[in-house]
Amino acid sequence: MLKNISFIMLSFISLACETEKKATQIESPKSSYYTEKHRPQFHFSPEANWMNDPNGMVYYEGEYHLFYQYYPDSTVWGPMHWAHAVSQDMVSWKHLPVALYPDDLGYIFSGSAVVDHNNTSGFGENNKPPLIAIFTHHNSDEQKSGSQTYQYQSIAYSNDKGRTWTKYEGNPVVPNPGIKHFRDPKVIWHESSQKWVMVFAAYDKVRIYNSSNLKDWTFQSEFGIPGDKRLWECPDLFPMNVQATGEEKWVLITSIQKDAPNGGTATSYFVGDFDGKRFIGDYKNQKWADYGKDNYAMVTWSDIPASDGRRLALGWMSNWQYANVVPTEKWRSTMTLPRVFTLHKTDMDYILRSNPVKELSRLEGRSTIVKPGVYKNTTALNGEIDQFLYKLNLKLKKESDSHFAIRLSNTKKEYIDIGYEGVGQLYFINRNNSGKTDFNKDFSGKHIGQASYSSETIDMTIYLDHASVELFADGGQCVMTDIMFPNERFSKIELVVSEGEVELIEGKITELKGIWNK
Ligand code: FRU
Repeated sequence: MLKNISFIMLSFISLACETEKKATQIESPKSSYYTEKHRPQFHFSPEANWMNDPNGMVYYEGEYHLFYQYYPDSTVWGPMHWAHAVSQDMVSWKHLPVALYPDDLGYIFSGSAVVDHNNTSGFGENNKPPLIAIFTHHNSDEQKSGSQTYQYQSIAYSNDKGRTWTKYEGNPVVPNPGIKHFRDPKVIWHESSQKWVMVFAAYDKVRIYNSSNLKDWTFQSEFGIPGDKRLWECPDLFPMNVQATGEEKWVLITSIQKDAPNGGTATSYFVGDFDGKRFIGDYKNQKWADYGKDNYAMVTWSDIPASDGRRLALGWMSNWQYANVVPTEKWRSTMTLPRVFTLHKTDMDYILRSNPVKELSRLEGRSTIVKPGVYKNTTALNGEIDQFLYKLNLKLKKESDSHFAIRLSNTKKEYIDIGYEGVGQLYFINRNNSGKTDFNKDFSGKHIGQASYSSETIDMTIYLDHASVELFADGGQCVMTDIMFPNERFSKIELVVSEGEVELIEGKITELKGIWNK
């Protein structure tokens, strides 16, 4: 009996120790992981070092792949690699080893990836379609020697779900004909012509090529704004069915390196038609996919199953004006929230809307209702919510003299204002007093975006993470993404009515959970 008791005791003690050991083993990485100052909690950021554009976004066998421009040796831009992460829902991410390293042909600049379902490339094995990455080789030695032809398009393939890659021995697949900026290929399968289409940026235009096998490419056409010398980067081209009518139109995305509406770099788009060879669109009608300062190189995922049917996008949440000097220590840059695009027809135009993907709802916790009614001056809205991560949904009556802001602030008197001005029908984000701003002269500022004239209410959804705000207004028609670096997190939420009064029709604040510490 005694023996039995001591055996039970001993087992209990060893079990308790075991539990304790396991607990400490799990706890220690958890408690310090992704907790650095300014570390985004529900956005993708690399564990360490420099990141820029999202690359090679493709869905394959249950995984959303995200490759990205990465320099593993520093927190500033340098020789580019493709780093890699995967997700089952675009919300939580698993970091994987670097996928593509620079080689004799150059650094690995931006590009895309596709599933080669019919094995047109011949790179597939065991009757399974290979993944093909299409990227720019940037040869810095050639660039330094004064050559104009130091960028060209290359491919690599993977037969193990993107874990390892082999570069094609015939690279480059699109040599440079003598154009100084010649990069960022996005490849799509064009169903009606049964051809691959490659679109990439050639200085101030996009070029379109065709191929049957992803290795041999033929030039077809160009699209640009005559006389406009701004540098284009990271294009994307895809069909969309217009909501309500079902009509098919093509959207050409292109990021612009200069003079975006609020300064610096931003993502724009054109809506038109495409026959497999030529994009026909109104070059005078360039629109902005995001009016904020911090959504660049936004492109969409390839190979989303037809049963899902969404056009899903992700952007780099920074701006080349200051990306290299933002005040984070261990890593630099973050991606935007994943978004879903929809295309809408207005009286005179086609408009792309973007909204956060529905998968984000799994981060939602407690919520509090903001009392509808007429508001004047300044009112605290927090209610039960005392967290730092949240989503706000607000609907207000639209008046020509409405002028208000949602002010997010901390105890250090730092704040960011996200609001609306009736005169001009503008949404705005003002980050002048948002904390650290003096690391670059172009960081401070009040940024504006055009509201929908046809919308009868002021309709705002705001996501707040530790270092960013994203505003999706008027059903995603006016989107603004801005990063920020408060010295203490913003936990106070106020409605500040600077002139007259505003009528709140509906309001809700929802706590959000982080994605890294589970
Ligand atoms: C856009 C960009 C691309 C290029 C990459 C280099 O941000 O300039 O045009 O491929 O970044 O990192």
